[in-house]
Amino acid sequence: MTVLAIETSCDETSVAIVRDGAVLSNIVASQVKLHAEYGGIVPELAAREHLRNILPVARTAMREAGVTPNQIYAVAATQGPGLPNALMIGFKTAQALAFALRKPLLGINHHEAHLYSPWITSAPHRADFDSFEPNVSLIVSGGHTLLVHVEAELRHRVLGSTLDDAAGECFDKAAKLIGLPYPGGPEMDRLAEGGDAKAFDFPRPLLHDASDDFSFSGLKTSVRYFLRDHPELLHDTQRLGDLCASVQAAIVEVLVTKTIRAARRLSVGCVTASGGVTCNRVLRRELATACSRNGLKLRLAEKAFCTDNAAMIAILAERKFLTGSEQTMTDADVMPSWALG
Ligand code: KG4
Ligand code: ZN
Repeated sequence: MTVLAIETSCDETSVAIVRDGAVLSNIVASQVKLHAEYGGIVPELAAREHLRNILPVARTAMREAGVTPNQIYAVAATQGPGLPNALMIGFKTAQALAFALRKPLLGINHHEAHLYSPWITSAPHRADFDSFEPNVSLIVSGGHTLLVHVEAELRHRVLGSTLDDAAGECFDKAAKLIGLPYPGGPEMDRLAEGGDAKAFDFPRPLLHDASDDFSFSGLKTSVRYFLRDHPELLHDTQRLGDLCASVQAAIVEVLVTKTIRAARRLSVGCVTASGGVTCNRVLRRELATACSRNGLKLRLAEKAFCTDNAAMIAILAERKFLTGSEQTMTDADVMPSWALG
């Protein structure tokens, strides 16, 4: 079975081809540089850039996979959540392709796809559903922070999410206050490397709260007040490193503690993580340490599959077709509800 999938929910235009679990191609055109000028994602610009990139990216994905249109069994695309106009470009392209090729079209939930990106093996990239086991999955990106109980393949329950800012947003906003360029997460990660994570004590929001929810806006505000009271720190590279390491430690401690706690409570043997923030080296390290201490297996998405990519959309779509759990879409269904207005 050969599936072509499209992902355009945020600022990455991506097309992937998957055949029998193997990722034959996964092309990602990132818009990071375009939005960096504005210090954050500008939705209308993202949509225009998707429109410009989608067909060249699709052609490259097909060429790299060595697949011709008539070999495609089905088309899939991210249906939501995401930026409405950005989603629209990818979904309408998928719809047109499916219509022209007379192939089925499957809309995929972006978060559900993230749940399976940790199950893509490192090169050769393929979906390792044979090793699947029930898990607690952490999805952390610039737009989302979710803790999910994946009870079985294709069956999951959201345990908690952020009440305000996402973890990546907290990294980005704190970085902006420090004067680092967008996106600030990778910059904070880099600057924190030589810093002392215990130098400054930042709050760990909802750390001991009984729920599986998160909250990061208070932490961002405390960084603002801290910098107001210590402006001299911005000119001291060592202290700046300490600050980045301390903020990062606060975010990571909350994410790791609540993930492990949920895994233990639900008696699963495995933890997975994906989303852009999962590229963070301290988060990866702390999750590994905490999992091994608690006898839990850990599957971290490879960095290329942490950030948004169409490969995760394609492998989930293929799995749904193979297990017969896809919902057959009528002509009305292939229009997302927000597009029907
Ligand atoms: O998944 P993603 O590419 O896009 C969405 O937000 O959907 O995630 C981007 C987020 C940004 O907030 C970025 O700062 C953060 O992931 N990020 C990191 C790191 N790399 C990316 N945050 C902390 N440390 C990193 N190394
Ligand atoms: Zn994402």
